[in-house]
Amino acid sequence: MINYTLKQLYSFEAVIRLKSFTKASKELHITQPAVYMQVKQLQENLGSELVNIQGKTITPTFIGQKFYQTSLEVIDKLEQSKADIEQTLDPEAGHLQIAVATTTNSFVSHILAKFKKQYPRMSFYLEVTNRESLLEKLDNSEADLIIMGEPPTDMPLVTQPFMENPLIAIAHPEHPLLNNQSNTIKDLTNETLITREQGSGTRITIERIIGMQLNSDIEINSNEAIIQAVQAGLGIGFVSKHTVKLELDNNVIKQLSIDKFPITRHWYVVHNSKSKLSPIAARFKKFIVDNS
Ligand code: PGA
Repeated sequence: MINYTLKQLYSFEAVIRLKSFTKASKELHITQPAVYMQVKQLQENLGSELVNIQGKTITPTFIGQKFYQTSLEVIDKLEQSKADIEQTLDPEAGHLQIAVATTTNSFVSHILAKFKKQYPRMSFYLEVTNRESLLEKLDNSEADLIIMGEPPTDMPLVTQPFMENPLIAIAHPEHPLLNNQSNTIKDLTNETLITREQGSGTRITIERIIGMQLNSDIEINSNEAIIQAVQAGLGIGFVSKHTVKLELDNNVIKQLSIDKFPITRHWYVVHNSKSKLSPIAARFKKFIVDNS
């Protein structure tokens, strides 16, 4: 076990670097005898002379020279970690680790762009993934904040709803079902349905609402690719209305009228209740809620 203190290490490093007990004491804001005592105790703890003192000349011994290198590395690491912590705790800067549901891609970048403009010194890592993987991250507190649909109720979470998330059915503009005022779930039986991958929140919700599993021939793990597939006439797709606004506005895709649709859910900003939010994460959470 290491039996010296950081105070001894800092004192020794300063004495060797500055070649003076007096200068070291000024830099460390302690008295000169106190610095001397720290170095003396360090030598006793390590069981070896570290410093040669000849008159006013101070040099490290052979072992002292080796230990000086170690002390530089240790102090460098400690100062670096102190700076990292200070940066993380700085409410204007800091680093954000965010994980979001694939479907939020359509609006999260806009929120982040606005936030970054307000706090230019902050940095972030954004992971875009599906619901299943978000649940794992929540369980392991792997992200500061998670943006998802319908958080689970059997986990210790802090959740805050912030925006509606309407799920709709979409079809090619010439799809025959568009001629009907309204369709039932039964009308979908003979249609080719394009679904998101297993583990997707969109898929889980649609299966729950229509009361059947989507054993579709076509599974796609990206909303953008589903929209392209529907546009190409491959079948009927289910997506969040937010992801398809442009295509609906341009009439290259139509919203299909079906019983129980649109399914209206909310987006939530979520974190594990066991982990305390950093100042920048707390600001980002408030920003999302205020700006949606
Ligand atoms: P998804 O999640 O991107 O995994 O489908 C969205 C949601 O939960 O609504």
